[in-house]
Amino acid sequence: MFKELKQQVKQVLVESVNPRDPVNVRAHPDNWRCVGVGNSAAVFQPKDRPNLSIKVYANTHAWVSSEEAEIYEQLGDSPFFPHFYGRGDHFLIIEYRPGRNIYDCLVQGIYIPEQVILDVEAAIAYARNRGLNPSDIHIKNILVHEGRGYLVDVSDYRKKGECKRWESLKQAYYEHYLDLYKPGLSVPSWILETIRKWYKANEGEGNIAVFAEQAKRMFFD
Ligand SMILES: Nc1ncnc2c1ncn2[C@@H]1O[C@H](COP(=O)(O)OP(=O)(O)O)[C@@H](O)[C@H]1O
Ligand SMILES: [Mg+2]
Repeated sequence: MFKELKQQVKQVLVESVNPRDPVNVRAHPDNWRCVGVGNSAAVFQPKDRPNLSIKVYANTHAWVSSEEAEIYEQLGDSPFFPHFYGRGDHFLIIEYRPGRNIYDCLVQGIYIPEQVILDVEAAIAYARNRGLNPSDIHIKNILVHEGRGYLVDVSDYRKKGECKRWESLKQAYYEHYLDLYKPGLSVPSWILETIRKWYKANEGEGNIAVFAEQAKRMFFD
């Protein structure tokens, strides 16, 4: 079934220039649309198979693909995650799900309803139930479609230790987003990038409430 896709993956060239930045897509098949990039991989949607997406890892991250494939298998089927179809050497074949990640919603001024937060909570509970430790849940890994949320990028769900990113995001949503949002409010990407760098620099230490207040005063007052 996926033979042709496996052939086409050979035309993809994805390169990690800096491990802290999104990968660079240097080549891809003509009839594949790139639907997103992360720090380890690029995700494509074949125009003739619009229900599929192919997540192709940069060479330096190829090993993550088998890890993520195993995690998808452990997760099983759930509406909170894209369906997993199979894997190759350095890529995964998963369901394409329409939607926008929260980063893009913020930049484009699209309202994020509370239901999205509730869906992410349910997704996390589901994954925990399957023996996983959902980690690295940040605004580019949460997708929103017709007011509902779901998660992509499960590669870190076997990481040990508590990841506080989701708790921080939830807090920012209830304490700041709901107050600040007005129709059409779009947050420029340079503000999101600045907040991301601050957060990363202080992750694990700093008080998130103080941090959020600072960001609010600096950018939104
Ligand atoms: N199944 C999917 N359907 C639609 N878009 C997706 C899907 N998977 C990923 N994306 C988009 O591609 C981006 C990068 O994918 P991701 O799996 O997070 O890569 P990385 O592991 O490098 O962070 C995501 O932020 C999301 O916007
Ligand atoms: Mg990601």
